Amino acid sequence: MKALLALILLLQLPIHKAVPAAPPAPLGCDDPKSEAAAAAAVNYINGNSHHGYMFTLNRIENIRVLPQGPNNEIIFLELDLLETTCHILSPTPLENCTVRSFTDHAVEGDCDVKLQNTNGQLSVVASKCHSNADSGEDVRQHCPDCALLAAWNDTEVQAAVTEALNDYNSKNGGAYIKLLEIGRAKIQHHPAHIVFVEFAVAATNCSTEEANVETCQLLPDDQSNFGFCTATKVITPSKELQVNCQLYGHQPGVTYSPPGQYTPAGLVPGVVQGFINHNLRLSHNNPLASESFSSEFSASMLSAKSVARRAVAEVAQHDKVPRPVGFVPPPPPCPGKIRHFKI
Ligand SMILES: *[C@@H]1O[C@H](CO)[C@@H](O)[C@H](O)[C@H]1NC(C)=O
Ligand SMILES: *[C@@H]1O[C@H](CO)[C@@H](O)[C@H](O)[C@H]1NC(C)=O
Ligand SMILES: *[C@@H]1O[C@H](CO)[C@@H](O)[C@H](O)[C@H]1NC(C)=O
Repeated sequence: MKALLALILLLQLPIHKAVPAAPPAPLGCDDPKSEAAAAAAVNYINGNSHHGYMFTLNRIENIRVLPQGPNNEIIFLELDLLETTCHILSPTPLENCTVRSFTDHAVEGDCDVKLQNTNGQLSVVASKCHSNADSGEDVRQHCPDCALLAAWNDTEVQAAVTEALNDYNSKNGGAYIKLLEIGRAKIQHHPAHIVFVEFAVAATNCSTEEANVETCQLLPDDQSNFGFCTATKVITPSKELQVNCQLYGHQPGVTYSPPGQYTPAGLVPGVVQGFINHNLRLSHNNPLASESFSSEFSASMLSAKSVARRAVAEVAQHDKVPRPVGFVPPPPPCPGKIRHFKI
């Protein structure tokens, strides 16, 4: 702790005397500074994602810092994220969002993020992400009867969503709600046949009592009211439908890209079929994420790897020197700890 404090004080000293120092040890993935950068990156990624769910940090895979001059550096981060149960339109703060468990058929996100640190102010310059659901075989291996993610265009999924919406609108007062997007769907076959669906909805200008719902329109941006529904439809042994919807109320500034501008494959709606999860590659827009950013990123990470290898080689050298009893070699700087679980 004392050593850390000394280091912090040292780092804060203005550089008067140019002491030719050894290059600083590479920043560890679990260093508080790495964690601060990762938190800024995750915040940015969720803030710029428009479909599907919020993601949370699972592991910092790699970090590389490029000094740019006094009080200015570029940070490259490679992050592993996990999908939470909070829809991107939900006002719940990320800290309060539950991570999808492994048996819930987890979705993992991979992101490359470039940040700038100027006088301790972190800002994201560019980010590039994609996400994938864990393989069904992987889930089944640990949990043979677990329900697996099903395609949104599956007829059972479509039927469950339609019935759930009708059920909600027929049993509740207030605004008539319409579907925005399916978030995820799962089907269980054993021991019972059950369809689980989750979908984002929005209030229309009609009330549920209104007869002619065909003309109902989603409320305009300055009155928008988004929400989220979960429904469980038991098909066998019994017929049962359980629907739970929550409208979040109007959230100024929160918008939803109207259908037609987005489909998981970037294609025309209705043509795209067979998706089981929202891909961060498409739901997270960053106009700055370009191919040149990717190559810059891999170049930086390659040099980071050679530095790490050198560091390991040096440690190996040192290890030939007899150590005092109780010496514990430092943990490898990267990748960092897993916060939730490994897929
Ligand atoms: C988030 O969790 C904290 C601590 O449990 C709680 O105090 C707070 O009310 C929660 N916020 C929301 C919006 O759920
Ligand atoms: C909802 O808006 C549409 C389009 O503006 C309009 O045709 C319809 O009558 C409105 N419905 C209600 C109940 O206000
Ligand atoms: C869902 O989409 C996939 C891919 O286009 C297609 O092969 C499949 O037949 C569709 N399923 C249904 C039930 O429409």
